[in-house]
Amino acid sequence: MRATVLPKYGDPELLTVAELAMPSPGPGQILVRTAASAVNPVDIEVRSGRAAANVNQPFPLVLGWDLAGTVVDLGEGTDRFAVGDRVVAMSAQMATGVGTHAEYVALDSALAAPAPDGVELTHAAALPLAGLTADQALELLAPEPGSTLLITGAVGAVGGFAVQLAVARGVTVLALVRPSDTVAVRALGAHTVLTDDEPLPAGIADALLDTAGLPGAIAAVKDGGQAVSIVPTAAPGPERGITVRMSFVEQDGERLDRLGRLVEKGVLTLRIADSVGLSGVGATHRRLAAGGTRGKLLVVPALDD
Ligand SMILES: NC(=O)c1ccc[n+]([C@@H]2O[C@H](COP(=O)([O-])OP(=O)(O)OC[C@H]3O[C@@H](n4cnc5c(N)ncnc54)[C@H](OP(=O)(O)O)[C@@H]3O)[C@@H](O)[C@H]2O)c1
Repeated sequence: MRATVLPKYGDPELLTVAELAMPSPGPGQILVRTAASAVNPVDIEVRSGRAAANVNQPFPLVLGWDLAGTVVDLGEGTDRFAVGDRVVAMSAQMATGVGTHAEYVALDSALAAPAPDGVELTHAAALPLAGLTADQALELLAPEPGSTLLITGAVGAVGGFAVQLAVARGVTVLALVRPSDTVAVRALGAHTVLTDDEPLPAGIADALLDTAGLPGAIAAVKDGGQAVSIVPTAAPGPERGITVRMSFVEQDGERLDRLGRLVEKGVLTLRIADSVGLSGVGATHRRLAAGGTRGKLLVVPALDD
């Protein structure tokens, strides 16, 4: 089977398509034929070597943390899914060594959930990592209905899901975006739109969810409020009695199942920027790193055929 492999840390051009042995599902695992996987910022961190301290696998590495696809085989004792099921899954590639930019992926069935009905299977690959990150960060903040939450990077992959999840909880969402994104973030349900060409008003929000890596955004939080960042390199310092925490995404098939049902209900929308084949992964790294991408970049193995 084909996969996009990284032979050593370095530039995106190192990512090439190679023939690898077909994975075999172990006990409790499913073998998935990948319809699509998503490209996430963490893939750039791993590929460049900036995350090398957290990567414990030998080269060549297969990158990619999430996928949508069809179950084609079951390991011993696997009863959560049947052959033919459409699934989505997140595998923390850095920790598990299981990358998803491949035609076939074997992973623990507990990491997977039924793919949402009513959307293309390839598009469902936009959900797992970004959706789980948004939901877990919000759970940490636990904003009350009617409270005000500032979300930075609110049209980003994580920020966009966070806006929709927070609005669905009855939270009043203040969204910080680029000036060109005001219409898009209102469409996601944001109540108040702030742009990064204007100074951020001080003390306007009960809580902050920073997905854009803007530690200064804590100024917008009221004294004694809460802040959660998902960007470890840009964590805000504690000030004015504000509780500051980091949130790191964890794989969670059951939570992913709940998120999939929210997609079916239209609470969460899947935003796709573009789809490339396995041979196009390197180009997506350059594109994502440049900024300005709106919606997920997907890797669709069938596009190479
Ligand atoms: N802790 C975790 O477990 C975890 C999980 C997932 C992601 N992350 C991290 O979280 C961050 C966001 O991930 P993502 O997938 O959502 O990335 P993304 O889709 O690129 O979203 C980031 C958004 O922030 C916007 N932004 C950047 N600077 C801004 C500013 N000054 N004002 C307003 N908006 C600004 C970006 O706009 P432009 O494109 O115009 O720059 C983009 O829309 C990344 O750093 C990623 O590494 C962490």
